[in-house]
Amino acid sequence: MERIQWDDLPGSLKNAISVRTGPITTGHAVADGMNSPLAAVIDTETAKVFVKGLPSGHRQAKTQLREAAAAPMVKGISPELLWQFDEAGWNVLGFAHLEGRAADYRPGSPDLELIINLMATLAAVEVPNGHEPVKYAEDRWKSYVDDPRDAEVLAGPSLIHTDWMPDNVLISGGRAWLVDWAWATLGAAWIDPACWLLRLMAHGHTAEQAEALARRLPAYATADPAHVDVFAHANVSMWTEIDEQHNRENTAAVWITTIARAARRWAQHRGVL
Ligand SMILES: Nc1ncnc2c1ncn2[C@@H]1O[C@H](COP(=O)(O)OP(=O)(O)O)[C@@H](O)[C@H]1O
Ligand SMILES: [Mg+2]
Repeated sequence: MERIQWDDLPGSLKNAISVRTGPITTGHAVADGMNSPLAAVIDTETAKVFVKGLPSGHRQAKTQLREAAAAPMVKGISPELLWQFDEAGWNVLGFAHLEGRAADYRPGSPDLELIINLMATLAAVEVPNGHEPVKYAEDRWKSYVDDPRDAEVLAGPSLIHTDWMPDNVLISGGRAWLVDWAWATLGAAWIDPACWLLRLMAHGHTAEQAEALARRLPAYATADPAHVDVFAHANVSMWTEIDEQHNRENTAAVWITTIARAARRWAQHRGVL
């Protein structure tokens, strides 16, 4: 994905945005994040807005729909979704701007406590009937387990985020906020602490340390260990495949290799590799 600079965006797209925000004073593409060609902070005379978008026909455009589906469920956990449109060939979401910084996942970081609080709040989110489409955990990981039926242990009623990259957790005003619901999923509530645990291991935690932090979340502490084993093993397959694909396509990235290695260490720690 190539992030597009503000000045290089088509005028028709900027117009469609300014219809929602009022006259735009300045716009700046943000540096963090991975998947959105458009991710920018916009200043108007009265407010700052974060906009995120993809060309309407883009293979990943449905990530926008999932993100919009999650928004009403995560008010107070994530910046508010102000508006959305599919116009001028672009699908765009506008969020309240949050002045913050990416979380620090290293051992001893004071952010870890804030993230445990964030996850505890997220665990209490109720998913209403008739919500907009999101992913299902049992589908997401089914091609990474030995028997597709094994993935049923991942099914559940909870809204889970699953993409716990540190730049999707913003620290602001003494608390942690979660952005980027592109992979909004329904599944077992312990999956988010488990996804976070892998990221912690990729940032210097041992498997023991990372599991101890994940166990601070009741959903993880009470999860059936056999179910977590299935997930640990599936993550080895998934991250190894992603890593190998990037190597083949000459887009190797250290963070992916590091997570793939963390996934293997976690599975070894649990005795499933
Ligand atoms: N509401 C917001 N306010 C301020 N910055 C934001 C906001 N949402 C996201 N960001 C910043 O923009 C980056 C990219 O946004 P994100 O939604 O993660 O898109 P991507 O799909 O490209 O990863 C984030 O890592 C974060 O630094
Ligand atoms: Mg992101």
